[in-house]
Amino acid sequence: MKIAIIGLGYVGLPLSLQFARSGVTVLGLDIDPAKVESLNAGCSYIRHIPSAGVRRQMAAERFSASTDFARVREVGAVIICVPTPLKKNREPDISYILNTGKAIAPHLKKGVLVVLESTTYPGTTEEDLRKVLEKRSGLRAGRDFHLAFSPEREDPGNPDRRVEDIPKLAGGYTPACLKRAVALYRKAIKSIVPMSSCRAAEATKLLENIFRSVNIALVNELKVVYDAMGIDIWEVINAAKTKPFGFMPFYPGPGLGGHCIPIDPFYLTWKARKYGQNTRFIKLAGEINTAMPHYVVERTAAALHSKRKSINGSKILVLGLAYKPNVDDDRESPGYHLLDLLKKRGAKVAYHDPYIPTVRPSREHSHWAGTKSAGWNRRVIGSFDAVIICTAHRAVNYRQLAQWAQLIVDTRNAMKGMKTRPGQVWKA
Ligand SMILES: NC(=O)c1ccc[n+]([C@@H]2O[C@H](COP(=O)([O-])OP(=O)(O)OC[C@H]3O[C@@H](n4cnc5c(N)ncnc54)[C@H](O)[C@@H]3O)[C@@H](O)[C@H]2O)c1
Repeated sequence: MKIAIIGLGYVGLPLSLQFARSGVTVLGLDIDPAKVESLNAGCSYIRHIPSAGVRRQMAAERFSASTDFARVREVGAVIICVPTPLKKNREPDISYILNTGKAIAPHLKKGVLVVLESTTYPGTTEEDLRKVLEKRSGLRAGRDFHLAFSPEREDPGNPDRRVEDIPKLAGGYTPACLKRAVALYRKAIKSIVPMSSCRAAEATKLLENIFRSVNIALVNELKVVYDAMGIDIWEVINAAKTKPFGFMPFYPGPGLGGHCIPIDPFYLTWKARKYGQNTRFIKLAGEINTAMPHYVVERTAAALHSKRKSINGSKILVLGLAYKPNVDDDRESPGYHLLDLLKKRGAKVAYHDPYIPTVRPSREHSHWAGTKSAGWNRRVIGSFDAVIICTAHRAVNYRQLAQWAQLIVDTRNAMKGMKTRPGQVWKA
């Protein structure tokens, strides 16, 4: 069997390799020629996905990449994993999905299965994508081709979560579409959860992400409240999680990051408005979480003040620019908000991240592109008036940080258990 996977990013690439490992021949399609070239040369451009895995599947002739979308005529199923960002006005931008639909529609053959995986609002598959596919192909969904939605549940950089072990939801446009989608994913994933419709599957993915956003907002708010009472939120969460039922730990931080949690909830907000419905939890969680970088900056100001310094004129290092530990993904990272806010207040800013030697060009923080990670040694680290721990990568030596840094603002409890000087570490 041969399939096409469109969008070879953090979701599409590991999924392609999983299908290939399961014996399915995968044609990876992307509009970015640099990614296609790199993959065809056997190089993964995502740090936690080893190149050896790409080379193994290429050698077995089960994986190759291309920019030629006409080649979807070679395959029996197409899986779409393209970005779903927000526009500047925070409305959903499904143009990547629609453009993919336009690009593949003229080349779809009868009987093909098309599955959307990108996170999006309920109705995207059955309304928006279906219309583009039908209009440009002359085929009818449910009659001439199959259509389904199956959300990705990738947990990048977590070695305990293998793609094949994560149960996969699937909703079909018709019962026959669902059957085809379930049969396809069964080839590569151990457990498939069939759902009544594409819309229910789309809504489930949003629930999962909204759940995270709201719970992270809750602990972020409690962090500020408990700090005012002289209580450490980290101690409280670690104690609460000893309860064997009815509690699930979420941890505070400097703000939300990544392609999903800061963005996806607003896909629902937008769609709900069309039904005259308000999404109050999403709005409140958004307000609290987006205020976090400001809170961290205020704590940094207080920490510097204790040394008779101000942000204006100080040298400040943001430690960890990726949005989560042990990966090189810096999309929507709160680290960039911190750099922006501190610079605006007159600080000389820099970052250190072992996973991001140089900031790559991107949609949302292009003005930092080309900036290089500061060195890691006593002279460099000691030269900063303050170091803000934004992301706690395992690869960072926090013992050395305690010895070298003048002041540390810790948003991740990374300095727990380290020998530090009185007044050196400020939690934020
Ligand atoms: N990253 C995650 O952890 C994660 C987890 C679950 C769901 N998702 C969702 O999966 C989707 C993809 O996310 P991602 O993290 O893989 O994004 P990504 O930016 O890493 O990858 C998307 C890829 O699509 C390509 N692309 C863009 N437009 C295209 C087009 N018109 N045709 C073909 N290729 C195109 C890009 O070049 C890129 O390689 C999003 O909807 C996201 O919300 C992501």
